[in-house]
This record gives sequence, C-alpha cells and structure tokens, in this order.
Amino acid sequence: MFIAILGRQPALGMAELERLYGNESTRWFSDQCAYIDTPSFSIDQLGGSLKAGRVVATLPRSDWRTASSKLVHAYSSSWAAHEGKITLGISAYGFDISPRDVQKTGIILKQKLKQSGVSLRLVPNAESALNTATSHHNKLGLSNNKVELLVIRARDGRVIIAESIGAQNITALARRDQGRPKRDAFVGMLPPKLAQMMINLASSAAQSQGHAANLPVSDLTQPERQRPAREDTGMVGRSDDQGKSRILDPFCGTGVILQEAALMGYSVYGTDLSEKMVDYSHANLEWLAKSHNLNIDATIHQGDAMDTRWQPPIDAVACEAYLGQPFSAPPSSGKLADVQKNCDHIISSFLENIAKQLKPGTPLCVAVPAWRDVRGDFTHLPLINHLGELGYTRHLFKNVKDSDLLYYREDQVVARELLVLTKK
Ligand SMILES: C[S@@+](CC[C@H](N)C(=O)[O-])C[C@H]1O[C@@H](n2cnc3c(N)ncnc32)[C@H](O)[C@@H]1O
Repeated sequence: MFIAILGRQPALGMAELERLYGNESTRWFSDQCAYIDTPSFSIDQLGGSLKAGRVVATLPRSDWRTASSKLVHAYSSSWAAHEGKITLGISAYGFDISPRDVQKTGIILKQKLKQSGVSLRLVPNAESALNTATSHHNKLGLSNNKVELLVIRARDGRVIIAESIGAQNITALARRDQGRPKRDAFVGMLPPKLAQMMINLASSAAQSQGHAANLPVSDLTQPERQRPAREDTGMVGRSDDQGKSRILDPFCGTGVILQEAALMGYSVYGTDLSEKMVDYSHANLEWLAKSHNLNIDATIHQGDAMDTRWQPPIDAVACEAYLGQPFSAPPSSGKLADVQKNCDHIISSFLENIAKQLKPGTPLCVAVPAWRDVRGDFTHLPLINHLGELGYTRHLFKNVKDSDLLYYREDQVVARELLVLTKK
C-alpha cells in the first residue's frame, strides 16, 4: 500500500492517480493524501503528487504525541544496528503542531540512536512538513540511508506512517520550464506539471494501470521509456513502428505537452494555427532531444484545429485549447460573453472535426477556459453540456467531481477546466 501527498489542487492529483491506477485501487486518506493500493508505485512523471511513500503503519485515532512516541520506539530499535550515517527528515501533515514539535521527535530519536552508536543527521524543519525542494535536494527516500518519514493525520484522527520513496523532481521540472529556448507569455505558460497530469489523464486506465510502477524512469538520466502499445488493449488504433503510442496536441503552441509526452515515451504529434508556434515547438523539442539525449519521434505542422485532417495514427489527445485573451481583472459581462462565444465556437468546431477522425475509445484530455469572477464563481463554456452530441462521453471519476478539475491560481481570471473524454 502506498500514499501520495497531493499538490496544491489535490483533486487534480487524485484524478490523475485514479486514471492511472484505476478507481478500485485509489481513495482519499485525508484532504491532501491519497491511498494507492498497488504492489509497486513510482512518483516519476506524476504531475499532481508531491511525495510518495510506502505505508509502514496505520494508527487508530491518535494525536502527535502518540504518533511520535510510536515512531521513536519503532525506529530506535529497527535502526539500532544500522550501518553508516542516516539522514532523516520528518514531515507531519494534518496535525495541529509546530515545526519545533516535529523537530523534537527527530532529536529524541537521534539521541536514542546515538546510544546505540548510530549517527543520524536530522534535516531541519522550517515547516511541520518539509517542502518538496528540501526533500528532493536531500534525496530523501531514494536510498536506505536517506529517509523521510511521512506522518499523516486524517480528519477522523487516523494516522498513517509512511516511508518516502521520493519527491517530485522539481529541479528537472524547472529546468524544462525555464530552460527551453522558445517561450511565449501570450499563448500562456502551461506548467510542465499540468502537462504531465493532462497526458496521464489522457491515458486509458485499462492500458496504463500500473505502468508508472512497472516502467519507472528517472526524469533526466534515462532514455525514453516505451509505453505499452495500444493494440495490447484492443481499445484503439495502432501505434507507430516502434510500438510507441502516439499522442496529438492540436493546439501545441510552444510544445509543453509534446515535450512532456516525449519524455514519457510517446511519439508526439503537434499542430497549431500559427506558423510561429509550429517553429517554437520544433525548436523546443530539438532542445529537449539534445539536452536530454533523447531520440524523439515528432511530427509538427501548421493546421487549423477546426478543419485539419490529421495523419493517423492518433492514440490519445492532450491539449490546452484556445483560451481566449488573458485578463488581469474580471471582464465586463458583455466582454465575457464575446470571449466565451468565440472560444466555444473554436473548441466545439475542433471537437466535432476530430470526432470524425478518432477511433472509438480514444482518450482525450482537453483544457478549456473557465472564467472566475470576484466571488470565485466560474463561467463555463456552453459546449460542456453538449459533449454527448459532439461524440464524446465524459469520464466519471469515483474520487473527484468533474467540476473540481479546474486549474488556476488565486490571482488568475482564466482557469483551465480539464475535460477528460472518450470518443464514443
Ligand atoms: C493556450 S495556447 C496553447 C499553449 C501550449 N499549451 C504551449 O505549450 O505553449 C493555444 C494555442 O492555440 C493556437 N490556436 C488558436 N486557434 C487555433 C485553431 N483554430 N487551430 C489550431 N490552433 C489554434 C494558438 O496559436 C496557441 O498556440
């Protein structure tokens, strides 16, 4: 049994896990933590999980004192004969405690181990839970000598103690985000984490269950991994000659989705209305191939998503569609109606066009705009109520509501609403 500490918008991280591991194997433990019932698990290439851990103990209703003394008792004996120095981080989630309380637990454990002749370096807690950067930079969870204990309390008081198996590789994510040569603030900056989530949401659960665990890849160091070919599932299409699935982004812009998909072992296909964006995607993929020593299979060309005929095969679609103009403050109702109508027209025409070209069962994840007003309420695209007529079924998640699949920052007017669809 594994747990994942979910990111800033936990519903998105949960949906990603549910899509990859199936709804039977995923459930909430607390507001920010998911259980994943699977024999093996990897955090690599999950956009919505910050840390992952193997569950080592579950406690009935407990406070920090109880959890802390259990932890000290268990690890002072199990590490009493440990060889070599241990680096230890402790992260507490869902407890009403200060970072000093967490630190105190570590100091007591350190003192006990010292009596047994075992040396321990404690990673200082600026917060009661170490942030992802600290965990990642200290390589916690990646070897026997570098351990992070994740102690999580649910609302009903139950507690899980898990040993980390790694944190999100934020260095690599930042490097890809900021290092790529072509960026464009106007078309928007899709964060690579969100691109990863969208790609995972656009994989069919039948195909991908357990794939993250079976095919771990360490972000920067390994060559591309092979995903199972779609023929294996009998669900959709063929894949390319090398057995890789091919994913299409018909609004590829600067190519963030293509970039992340290539790293995940997909063969990638991008089109965009703008020649400039086609050039940008090319340049960014070239940079990725060189800087990551990857062999990327890519097709990129100009095309209007409303009437392009794409070259088969298309095994999956992930895209951030046209989002309309950016707003720094909520627009007037007249302006909002115009932009909403325009986006609705472009995106429905795209969905109608591509529906005729996709095989039944093809999975899609399409990010569309939703506009936030000052009260935090959203104006959605009308097409969301007509997905059936357009040729799609919307995926029903067990753990999250469709309406929670919205990605935004507090200061943003235009949110991205993720539509997870299957071609009928
Ligand atoms: C929100 S941006 C996508 C940005 C992209 N995710 C990236 O990584 O840069 C939308 C893109 O859709 C393109 N676009 C707008 N209308 C289009 C259409 N009718 N067909 C194809 N692309 C279109 C724009 O040129 C822009 O690059």
